[in-house]
Amino acid sequence: MKVLVTDPIADAGLERLDEAGFIVETAYDIEGEALRSAIQDAVGLVVRSGTEVTADLLAAAPELVIVGRAGIGVDNIDIDAATEHGVIVANAPEGNVRAAAEHTVAMAFATARSIPQAHSRLKSGEWAKGEYLGTELNNKTLGIVGLGRVGQEVARRLNSLGMDLLAYDPYIGADRAAALGAELAELDTVLERADIATVHTPLTPETEGLISEPELAKLEGGYLINCARGGIIDESALAEAVADGTLNGAALDVFADEPLSTDSPLLAVENVVVTPHLGASTEAAQENVATSIADQIVAATNDEPVMNA
Ligand code: NAD
Ligand code: MLT
Repeated sequence: MKVLVTDPIADAGLERLDEAGFIVETAYDIEGEALRSAIQDAVGLVVRSGTEVTADLLAAAPELVIVGRAGIGVDNIDIDAATEHGVIVANAPEGNVRAAAEHTVAMAFATARSIPQAHSRLKSGEWAKGEYLGTELNNKTLGIVGLGRVGQEVARRLNSLGMDLLAYDPYIGADRAAALGAELAELDTVLERADIATVHTPLTPETEGLISEPELAKLEGGYLINCARGGIIDESALAEAVADGTLNGAALDVFADEPLSTDSPLLAVENVVVTPHLGASTEAAQENVATSIADQIVAATNDEPVMNA
């Protein structure tokens, strides 16, 4: 039985599939006819965020039992089409949560203290000490949009650094927020009161464009972080809001179109810090999600329960 792996995952996951007796075929950066041809005899497909699992691709995979997402977001997988074809979609919802939360904390410091900007000035020979007056996180308010697994881990970490917590998440109870020491409020209130707002929702029809020009105006004087998914924030509006000083800065790990085009207006704005979707890129996280997804492929092809864990 063949498992096709179309985005790089940690060796530990590939080895686990191999030990379970699968023929493991890695084929990165393929698309179109080459991808349709590679998947036609596969029982399992393993992806990260780089492969679009479309209805067309699923139609070309008559043997497919399971699509495993070695990570959290399944917005690159057509779940309705998978259901129509009787294909299980599994993700690894736990393994990279701490990595994503740590990256978010790093982005908070990076933007509030202009670390990447000062770093590149010094590397190019400029001692620009007088030009960077940062913002302390201590005693500031963190606005969390989406208080799920990653949002909660970010909340704990930044609360321990002295930040007050305010959150918008229409799907959780006030008790869960209170247990973290967070106050729940409407989105507008969260943005109006936050010094730093951080986004941790999935990308869904409801969250697409959730933060656009009017919402950015409410965060006036603050910082915005997105280590969740591109498309939740309107990128042109954000570039403009940072460029015209409405926001002090922004830090983004994810983009509506990845890889981010060199033409993106975000790249032209000094106070927008960017990383190339690195939130889950730690050794521990990659090993966790790769072995988790390998276990689920083994389970699905043995008619055992798939735990999504
Ligand atoms: P999760 O499902 O545990 O939490 C998401 C939270 O968002 C839930 O509490 C849900 O109620 C809330 N939510 C849903 N719709 C909302 C809305 N309209 N408004 C406000 N809140 C809403 O997910 P998670 O594991 O915490 O992951 C969060 C995001 O981070 C996902 O988009 C995931 O793909 C992304 N992620 C990115 C990286 C990275 O490499 N940058 C790594 C891990 C996760
Ligand atoms: C995720 O949703 O888990 C992230 O996008 C991490 C990734 O696979 O890069």
